[in-house]
Amino acid sequence: MRLRHIPGSEEEIENSTWVYHSPEETQKNISSPLYLEIGMGKGRFIMENAFTYPDISFIGIEMYESVMVKATRKLDSLPDDEKPLNLHLIRMDARDICDFFPKESIDRIYLNFPDPWPKARHAGRRLTSSGFLKRYDSILKKDGRIELKTDNLDLFEFSLEEARASGYEISYVTYDLHADEEAMKSNIMTGYEQKFSSLGNKICRYVIRRSLTSV
Ligand SMILES: C[S@@+](CC[C@H](N)C(=O)[O-])C[C@H]1O[C@@H](n2cnc3c(N)ncnc32)[C@H](O)[C@@H]1O
Repeated sequence: MRLRHIPGSEEEIENSTWVYHSPEETQKNISSPLYLEIGMGKGRFIMENAFTYPDISFIGIEMYESVMVKATRKLDSLPDDEKPLNLHLIRMDARDICDFFPKESIDRIYLNFPDPWPKARHAGRRLTSSGFLKRYDSILKKDGRIELKTDNLDLFEFSLEEARASGYEISYVTYDLHADEEAMKSNIMTGYEQKFSSLGNKICRYVIRRSLTSV
């Protein structure tokens, strides 16, 4: 994704009350059930989830202030009685995720349209690669799950292989989510999903679960 620097975004994120600023602050506020979106971008999906499921706590994770600030500005602009109390954000590189969350504290992780990093030498940066799956395995609850959506077929095949090799159980796979009427009943569109599906791209999705016999 091409990134345009937004002047002042670092300070806005630093001062935002939507954001947990440290592992300590995050751990002090852990509640259950807890769902994460890693790489939330401008936050359309996680905000819509927070509005739809007020009894679930949501945390959106994003690496760049210039992207996250689009979400905090949107949240700030909502009338007070519409602000979602069950949503918080963390600006971090997901590589550090295990510093922020206790072991077995997360019910669900959403990975929506993660950057594909097409070059083989960058495979370790993909959010669905084995190094990341190992981190998720440690913070997910025993019956926790990961849900991936992407329109990138190469990334999807890679992600399925990595999930199998890392000992996850694959409980749902589709190469055309929008043709699955049952799954679409509860589907919440992400910003990228809106964009790519309107261009005619098919959306792939998997749901994988921590296998009780895994690592
Ligand atoms: C292609 S965008 C998708 C945004 C959103 N999930 C959607 O579907 O509309 C991927 C996002 O993941 C973020 N990202 C990539 N690698 C990350 C990492 N290691 N830690 C946190 N965020 C990351 C990027 O900055 C970008 O905003």
